[in-house]
Amino acid sequence: MAPADASPAVLPVDGRVIAITGASRGLGAAIARRLHADGYTLALGVRDVAATRSRLDLAGRCTFHHFDALDAGSADVFIDEAIAAHGKLDGLINNAGVLRRFSFDHPDERALDEMWAVNVKAPFRTIVRALPALKASGHGRIVNIASTDAKRVRDPSAPLGYVMSKHALLALSHAAKFAGWEDGVRVTALCPGAIDTELIAGLPGATPAANRLKPETVAEAVSLLLRLPNAATVAEMVMNTRLEANF
Ligand SMILES: NC(=O)c1ccc[n+]([C@@H]2O[C@H](COP(=O)([O-])OP(=O)(O)OC[C@H]3O[C@@H](n4cnc5c(N)ncnc54)[C@H](OP(=O)(O)O)[C@@H]3O)[C@@H](O)[C@H]2O)c1
Repeated sequence: MAPADASPAVLPVDGRVIAITGASRGLGAAIARRLHADGYTLALGVRDVAATRSRLDLAGRCTFHHFDALDAGSADVFIDEAIAAHGKLDGLINNAGVLRRFSFDHPDERALDEMWAVNVKAPFRTIVRALPALKASGHGRIVNIASTDAKRVRDPSAPLGYVMSKHALLALSHAAKFAGWEDGVRVTALCPGAIDTELIAGLPGATPAANRLKPETVAEAVSLLLRLPNAATVAEMVMNTRLEANF
């Protein structure tokens, strides 16, 4: 039998195990559906396991696990359960996120703390716990769902605490890139503009609904990123809905 190609043009799908946070609805559900259709084995971390299981209705190759980003111990339990269920881990999609609004005139530190916990600390924790297994994979992948709000503060209507948290997630992504590089782990901060989900319902300054990204379009990008070989590292992928000078 011919030896497996150590550096294939694209990575195979079969047998690879991908963990996704926040797969209950919105973008996370679209990513789960897309990756399941691709043929990956999935471990989904969600707050409401029963509701998500029945809503997604994915047959086989998928386990559901409780994950609450506001619970400090939840990331470890989720990642440990995912590895125990499938014997390995090849990819981690940090998708769960929240957007709360406040301004300099009306600051809200509770909202800031919540966004820091969900959008930054939870991805940090899942990465810390998953890194040994991702390194063992030899082609581990991390995709952090950031935002164009990770790249700039577009104008004064930009949601202040959210842009702060997404900038931090971008920094975490670049730091994780160094942490796993020698063992084949590749990290992407995927930075979409407005996606047509509940997250931005009624958000001032958001791209008009007709011009928003569909969740399935962003899920397509995740599907591509997971297939790229170690030599094709994409540290940032910006997917804008509007014309801006730099991306
Ligand atoms: N929509 C956009 O315009 C846009 C643009 C760029 C980036 N993003 C990012 O894309 C990601 C997905 O957002 P979305 O648009 O799909 O929003 P969404 O429809 O509001 O979904 C948010 C997801 O995050 C989960 N989540 C929230 N708090 C959680 C917690 N404490 N623990 C575990 N899961 C939690 C939700 O689970 P529950 O069902 O349990 O609440 C849900 O699955 C986020 O990181 C967001 O920042 C969104």
